[in-house]
Amino acid sequence: MPVDVQSDRVVITHGESVAEVLLWGATVTSWKYKGIERLFVSSKAVLDGTKAVRGGIPLVFPQFGPGPLPQHGFARVSKWTWGGLSVENASETRVEFSLLPEAIPASQKAIWPHDFRLVYTVALFGSSLQTTLRVRNLGTAPFEFTSLLHTYLRIKDIDHAGVVGLTGYPFADKVTETRTESEPRLSVRVASEVDRIYQRVKNDHITVEGTGVGGGAIVIHKSGFDDVVVWNPWVDKAKGMSDFGDEEFKEMICVEVGNVSTPRKLGPNETWEAGQRGGRRRPPVLVGE
Ligand code: BG6
Repeated sequence: MPVDVQSDRVVITHGESVAEVLLWGATVTSWKYKGIERLFVSSKAVLDGTKAVRGGIPLVFPQFGPGPLPQHGFARVSKWTWGGLSVENASETRVEFSLLPEAIPASQKAIWPHDFRLVYTVALFGSSLQTTLRVRNLGTAPFEFTSLLHTYLRIKDIDHAGVVGLTGYPFADKVTETRTESEPRLSVRVASEVDRIYQRVKNDHITVEGTGVGGGAIVIHKSGFDDVVVWNPWVDKAKGMSDFGDEEFKEMICVEVGNVSTPRKLGPNETWEAGQRGGRRRPPVLVGE
């Protein structure tokens, strides 16, 4: 059965790939290929719909970070509506979830009083997962928003992980509160708290190395998003989060594609769409192996 709809989640299967999506936040909480989990979800994550999920792919909309709305906006802390199976064929299984203003608490609607429809599609292909956010302005006035796919990837060991594809791009460092005009490194490594917004990243594929046995990697292809956030809380921040294990920073890295440094403006009846597709990249086979 390609789609198993349960009361609080949907499980999608396509060939040897399986993904699980909670209606709470439309959060993808698991993506397995050949039985191997690719996403990180904290052992302390709260999954009962009282808090954003600490792991998987929480959806940030319409506000990235702190602001008038709760941190990272309302999309990740709202119950989405199951929109059904939209494509099922030999190459993919695709499902949809939607969010309308009715699902948002009145206190937050008062802060962001716009009429909108979000449609989130989750598609499984042979060995890759695609998640796409579509925003439509159903109102009579334009609105602005920031958005991001806050992907927590499972990695083997943070000391051997790296993010490739950001060389030469400017970034804002939220830890040091500095700005750097050009990332000099070929591979961005993590050896302390990292919270960076890489901006206007034209390169459309980012490789996260160290996600599997023997240095396997995941390649994230982004479309429609300009920025890439790299986040790892490291020792002290990890200890300060009630829904994150003290040592779990060693087995995760967030590589988040989004539009966060410049908000998008959407006029009445306009639609905007952006997404990511992630898949495995095997390490090169060395002669003699
Ligand atoms: C990242 C931000 O996207 O999310 C960080 O850049 C933030 O600043 C992190 O700490 C986690 O946010 P939250 O709200 O899920 O704890």
